[in-house]
Amino acid sequence: MGKLTKPKLDEKTLKGFNVLVSSRRSVRSFEPGEEIPRKTLENIADAGRWAPSGANSQPWEICVVEEPSRVREVASVMASQADRLNEHCKGFPHVHKKHWVHDSVALMVVFVDARWADTFPTALEPELDDTEYKENRWNILLVSVGAAIQNLQLATTAVGLSSAWLSGGGEPQTAQALRELLGFPATHTPYGIVPIGWPRRRAESRWRRPIEEVIHWNEAATENLRSRNDIDHYIEKERRHSIYKDAQSRDRYVSETMTTDGEIDRVDDGN
Ligand SMILES: Cc1cc2nc3c(=O)[nH]c(=O)nc-3n(C[C@H](O)[C@H](O)[C@H](O)COP(=O)(O)O)c2cc1C
Repeated sequence: MGKLTKPKLDEKTLKGFNVLVSSRRSVRSFEPGEEIPRKTLENIADAGRWAPSGANSQPWEICVVEEPSRVREVASVMASQADRLNEHCKGFPHVHKKHWVHDSVALMVVFVDARWADTFPTALEPELDDTEYKENRWNILLVSVGAAIQNLQLATTAVGLSSAWLSGGGEPQTAQALRELLGFPATHTPYGIVPIGWPRRRAESRWRRPIEEVIHWNEAATENLRSRNDIDHYIEKERRHSIYKDAQSRDRYVSETMTTDGEIDRVDDGN
C-alpha cells in the first residue's frame, strides 16, 4: 500500500455532495416513457454494491426490473400493498390511487438474505450468553441494507432521475408475491423497493429538523430531545404533511394548526 500524503479538507466537494444529498427527494409521480439505458441502471446498482455492510456481508441482491411488462407486474403488487395499508393503517394518504408506480421506468427490488446475520458477532461458546450480540444482529443487517438503498437513491439523483423508497416489501404477503413474481427463494425478503423514473415536477424541498436541533456536540443537548408527546403530536397532526408536502406548505400548515387546532385536510398527492 502506498504512503498517504497528509489529506487536505475538500470543502468544495463536501458542499457539492451536500447539494446532491439534499436534492434527493422521494418522488411519487413520474412522467412515463423514455427508457433508461441498461448501463445507467447498472451504474446505479453499482452504487448500492459499494455500500458498507456489517462484516462486509453484503446481504443484498439487487433485482433490476426494467422490462415494461415486469415493471407493471411489480407495480400491481405494490398497488395491492398500498390498498391494504390504506385500509389497515391510519394516517397515510391515498397517493397510491393514481398507481404512480406503474409510471416507473425501472424498479430496483432489494432482496435481503437474513442468514447473513450469522456473520456478525457471535458468542465464542454455545454455553455463553449470546443475548447481547444476538439482539444487535438484526440491527446490523437492517442498517446495512439501508445504506445500500440510500446509495441507490443518491446515484439516481446524481443522474437526474427520481426515485422513492418503498418499505412494504417487508410485509409477509407482499414479500411472498414479489418472491413468486421475481423468482427469489424464501430465504430472501425484499425489504426495499425503489421505483425509478422521470420526475413529473420539480423535486421540492421537504421538512427537516434544523441542524442546531439534531446535532449534539460532545454530549446530549437534552433540551432538544423530543418527547413522547412530540411523537404523538407528529402522528396526529404533522405526519401526512411532513411526508408528502413540500417544506413550506408543511410549515404553513403546522403553524396554522398550532393556533387553530383545525382538522387535518386530506393530502392526496405527493411529489
Ligand atoms: C426505511 C424507509 C421506508 C420508507 N417507506 C416508504 C413507503 O413505503 N412509501 C413511501 O411512499 N415512502 C416511503 N419512504 C420515504 C419517506 O416517506 C421519505 O423519505 C420521507 O418522507 C422524507 O421525504 P424525502 O425522501 O422526500 O426527503 C420510506 C423511507 C425510508 C427511509
